[in-house]
Amino acid sequence: MNLISRTPPGPWGYSCQWGYSCQVAHGTVNPARLQSVEKMKPATLLKFNFADVLISFRNAFSFTFYIFAKIVKQKLLINPMEKVVSGIRSTGNLHLGNYYGALRNFVKMQQEHECYFFIADYHSLTTYPNPEDLHGNVRQILSEYLAAGIDPDQATLYIQSDIPEVPELYLLMNMNAYVGELERTTSFKEKVRSQPNNVNAGLLTYPVLMATDIIIHHATKVPVGKDQEQNLEMTRRFARRFNNMYQQEYFPEPEPYNFGQALVKVPGLDGSGKMGKTEGNAIFLADEPEVIRKKVMKAVTDAGPTEPNQEMGEPIKNIFKLMEIVSEKETYDYFLEQYNTMKIRYGDMKKQLATDIIEFTDPLREKIRAIHADEAYLRKVVEKGREKARASACKTVQDVRNIIGIKGF
Ligand code: TRP
Repeated sequence: MNLISRTPPGPWGYSCQWGYSCQVAHGTVNPARLQSVEKMKPATLLKFNFADVLISFRNAFSFTFYIFAKIVKQKLLINPMEKVVSGIRSTGNLHLGNYYGALRNFVKMQQEHECYFFIADYHSLTTYPNPEDLHGNVRQILSEYLAAGIDPDQATLYIQSDIPEVPELYLLMNMNAYVGELERTTSFKEKVRSQPNNVNAGLLTYPVLMATDIIIHHATKVPVGKDQEQNLEMTRRFARRFNNMYQQEYFPEPEPYNFGQALVKVPGLDGSGKMGKTEGNAIFLADEPEVIRKKVMKAVTDAGPTEPNQEMGEPIKNIFKLMEIVSEKETYDYFLEQYNTMKIRYGDMKKQLATDIIEFTDPLREKIRAIHADEAYLRKVVEKGREKARASACKTVQDVRNIIGIKGF
């Protein structure tokens, strides 16, 4: 018995699972002691064997546990946390549509996935923002992301132009994108129509830059709206083309991620469609209460229902939808009842809606303001984001250079 227990433990603190015999073979048992075992009476021998079996069991258990732990670790390595990338152009402030449609879900996602959220300031250059405005916009959106709950310790929150690997990979990816396919994308064709005097090459290659943003972190999920799905399709195509060209499965093909049940489409105030930056129908998170009140009171309505339970027109549906999103259920039910019984006064409903929106945005606006003023904090966040995003981007660009054949001397 002593013989075994005095032998030193193996590496990792796990003894060999075969116990005694293996330890002899490994030379950890003194042969002189072994002889004394041979001289033992059968009963002693039996006792010894019993203990040996017990120890072997213990060792077998440790070994099994060790293998199990290895498998779990391997599984985690093969199947690590899903990577998520999403960017927002730094044009204009965030509105309620951005908040309920995307930001709120980003905040949830950051806990379960490896998230990269960034401010796409390069993308905003296609429309030449004022140099003074550009930095201000980036700072505002950054403050808004943080106020809404993006946690720079959990997610990687960064600014696109802080990552020099992005333009490098963009250049390399441009070699793999055909002018014909870029010209055929819907958003490009729209730009050609709407701004024929400024059809710059940046607009043409916008999908390549967006693909770069995504594949540079090997993202597999990209939470974007319907309007970005074609760009995402191009991303998959560029990734696949690169893999085929160099005969390796290097880039994963990212999938669009819509939040399923959690996806909320926030309507605008102008009676048609969803809330958007450019349509001038939005309520911004940073809007002052007076501005919100004015905007809501101006929202499009109609002459009112002329029969009980009348089907709602689009503008009225939108106001109800907004109320459903922002207000308490009782408030919503009350006005619905008023509508169905033809007693509704839209003025009262809008007043209530404005009050509820203000109640929701008030604390957010305060947070945005405080973060926006805290330069040291913003700098810290940006530096941390840059460092984390570059670590991931550098690795990709290095790999791609190798795959393509760009080698050092
Ligand atoms: N094109 C996106 C938009 O206009 C912004 C964007 C740029 C983006 N790069 C991205 C979104 C990468 C998701 C992933 O909204």
